[in-house]
Amino acid sequence: MKVGVIGSGMMGAGIAQVSAAAGHQVVLTDVALDRAEKGKAGIEKLLARQVAKGTLEEAAAAATLARISPAGDTAGLADADFVIEAATENEGLKQKIFAGLTLAPHALLATNTSSISITMLGASTDRPDRFLGLHFFNPVPVMQLVEIIPGLATSDATRAAARDYIGTLGKTAIVSEDSPSFIVNRVLCPMLNEAIFALGEGVGSVVDIDTGLRLGANHPMGPLTLADFVGLDTLHAIMLVMQKATGDPKYRPAPLLSKYVEAGWFGRKSGRGFYDYSGEAPVPTR
Ligand code: 3HC
Repeated sequence: MKVGVIGSGMMGAGIAQVSAAAGHQVVLTDVALDRAEKGKAGIEKLLARQVAKGTLEEAAAAATLARISPAGDTAGLADADFVIEAATENEGLKQKIFAGLTLAPHALLATNTSSISITMLGASTDRPDRFLGLHFFNPVPVMQLVEIIPGLATSDATRAAARDYIGTLGKTAIVSEDSPSFIVNRVLCPMLNEAIFALGEGVGSVVDIDTGLRLGANHPMGPLTLADFVGLDTLHAIMLVMQKATGDPKYRPAPLLSKYVEAGWFGRKSGRGFYDYSGEAPVPTR
């Protein structure tokens, strides 16, 4: 199958990597070729690390890489069978991307949105019946889950094809209704937001809040580490979508989260969030 991935950031690159590893041909697109190439270079690094650890054959890593073609526009998606959009979490931007696509009539189109209405995004495409949400988790190569979110107009054949594709990746699918933030983020993001409220109110330090949830609830990462990992801008956008969609103030972003986003402190990807990532090991900032 030929898979198209729109957006070569953390999520898009991860989706490209697992698709190529599963034997699919992949076109990895971004707004400029150098961005898409940077996405591919990141994949190369991860694969090299696996080879060095002895968990992946060198030939398999080379074959995976060879199946990924970076592109600076979406022209190469014209003969793709399955296109997955993983651009910034912004409704208008996603709609603009969909409007600019020329896809084969049979092609399926998916969005990796973590919170925006699938029905609404689908309605802005030329194929609402062949459109759905496929929500991957970060880091994509490691996380076993993909949420399938059909919109109101998504056909049964599209759902079945999406399930088959996820099966080829060796991942587990669950189905969520098209409800704000679906299943996992509905539960996870308010928890991360709450940890930031607690930090802002001085209930505990970064280290104590993170250690608390790691050792007291057996989470693999503390909530502030995970928020930095997900991206504070992404978490902020998800909370705003949930607040707007439900009108429920319990979803309002923590003031400290909003401040960090205003400062451009987006977490690991910008070098600073609740930890400073400029040195060898992350250093807590509060
Ligand atoms: N990319 C690819 N592989 C990675 C990776 C990355 N960014 N980070 C770690 N790995 C791999 C390692 O190479 C290692 O592989 P191996 O078993 O073959 O050696 C394996 O994962 C374990 O890594 P480490 O031993 O270095 O570290 P940990 O055991 O601490 O695991 C972790 C790291 C898997 C990231 C773990 O801490 C974890 O599961 N954290 C929680 C992640 C999580 O909750 N993600 C969901 C976020 S929410 C989301 O994505 C939704 C969005 O819409 C907001």
